[in-house]
Amino acid sequence: MSAVVVLGTQWGDEGKGKITDFLAQQAEIISRYQGGNNAGHTIVIGKKRHALRLIPSGIFYDDKICVLSNGMVIDPRVLKEELDYIQQEGYRTDQLKISNRAHIILPYHNVLDELQEEARGNRAIGTTKKGIGPAYTDKALRSGIRVCDFIEPDTFAQKLRQQVTEKNEWIVKIYNGHPVSYDEILDEYQALAELIRPFVVDTAAFLNEELGKGNKVLFEGAQGTMLDYDHGTYPFVTSSNPIGFCVGAGVGPRHIKEVIGVAKAYTSRVGQGVFPTEQNNSIGDLIRETGREYGTVTGRPRRVGWFDAVVVKHSCRVAGVTGLTINSLDVLSGLEKVKICTGYRHKGRVIQEYPASEKVLLACEPIYAELNGWTEDLTKITSYDQLPENVKEYLHFIENKVGVAVKMFSVGPERKQTVILDGVW
Ligand code: GDP
Ligand code: IMO
Ligand code: MG
Repeated sequence: MSAVVVLGTQWGDEGKGKITDFLAQQAEIISRYQGGNNAGHTIVIGKKRHALRLIPSGIFYDDKICVLSNGMVIDPRVLKEELDYIQQEGYRTDQLKISNRAHIILPYHNVLDELQEEARGNRAIGTTKKGIGPAYTDKALRSGIRVCDFIEPDTFAQKLRQQVTEKNEWIVKIYNGHPVSYDEILDEYQALAELIRPFVVDTAAFLNEELGKGNKVLFEGAQGTMLDYDHGTYPFVTSSNPIGFCVGAGVGPRHIKEVIGVAKAYTSRVGQGVFPTEQNNSIGDLIRETGREYGTVTGRPRRVGWFDAVVVKHSCRVAGVTGLTINSLDVLSGLEKVKICTGYRHKGRVIQEYPASEKVLLACEPIYAELNGWTEDLTKITSYDQLPENVKEYLHFIENKVGVAVKMFSVGPERKQTVILDGVW
């Protein structure tokens, strides 16, 4: 058992990149297993802030192997941009491996994402418009183009022609949009396929072999459990399983030693959908400004609210979380009182489980526990003992309500502002 998983327990942007970067110090291999460049993972090393969308947050260590596993959808244009960026910053990229079974995002996916959002009108999901939903739709429809097809020039040309013909029917006839050009895509993407070719392997075979040797693998989730299309706030979710580390990497559960659930000390959400503890008021504005809560990918202001223990408990259960990390504790400094949602009131009844029905959720009123806040600056804290008593009480309260131990916390965006309480590896 030498694999550790880092995944989000809220609606994404919990600080997974930062925690992955921290835990990667002890790993040999770091792998993403789902999602694509809808993710935006921020890593701050010293004064430098990096935002990664596709490449795992382990790339800033020269001696680690980074893997893009089969469960991902990969936009080759974005991959090229990201490789160029990492090289310009002076880091290696030759230790990257890309799954031959991952799916490729092509320009018609982006066009369809845009058009489908428009067609949803006031039920728009607020997607990142990166083509994620349409690419996973193609995967389920068995119309997707995989990396292995992409790097075979004949196969790619043939599959692309078929897809462009079909997708243009949808684009033009259903959505009244502009058709995409087969020749233009082929021209640009054949060159991108050549760029990707040297990185392509059977990543599941590679990961299993390395795990068999006892090498440590860190899996980095994208998005969060509440955006999982099985367990999240459907239909306001993403089109993959952010908790699907085994299938998404081709690794069996017997290898998983720990599943670290990442949560912020409060909650944030970008995009539409029910958000029971949302604070659309001065408290929300204060948290947004202090926590710099603006989307890494789209720059959209994030919706913010109190910590919701019902949400995190639900996520920890379905993802099998063995330890929590509570990030951004520093952001709440200065609030006289802090609140944690412990249940919902629905038609006079108290609910402890996150409801599946949107209608029920909309009629729910959060029940809050009010705790004493803290005024101290936490940003220089390096151990649990240094935390003010009220912060310790806040963490204990979360542990009790969620039923999972807090194993880590963080007090700032920098690598060195993460504190680990209990062994993870
Ligand atoms: P991810 O998508 O889960 O990797 O998270 P993002 O990087 O999109 O968003 C998390 C944001 O919070 C980033 O701007 C991080 O730099 C920042 N962050 C992470 N941990 C902390 C922390 O402990 N304190 C503060 N103030 N910011 C943090
Ligand atoms: P990281 O990995 C936060 C949200 C979008 C939208 C919904 C569907 O940085 O935590 P999509 O483009 O995936 O079809 O959009 O999911 N979303 C995220 N929100 N963090 C993310 O990734 C997200 N990736 C997608 O805002 O509501
Ligand atoms: Mg993010």
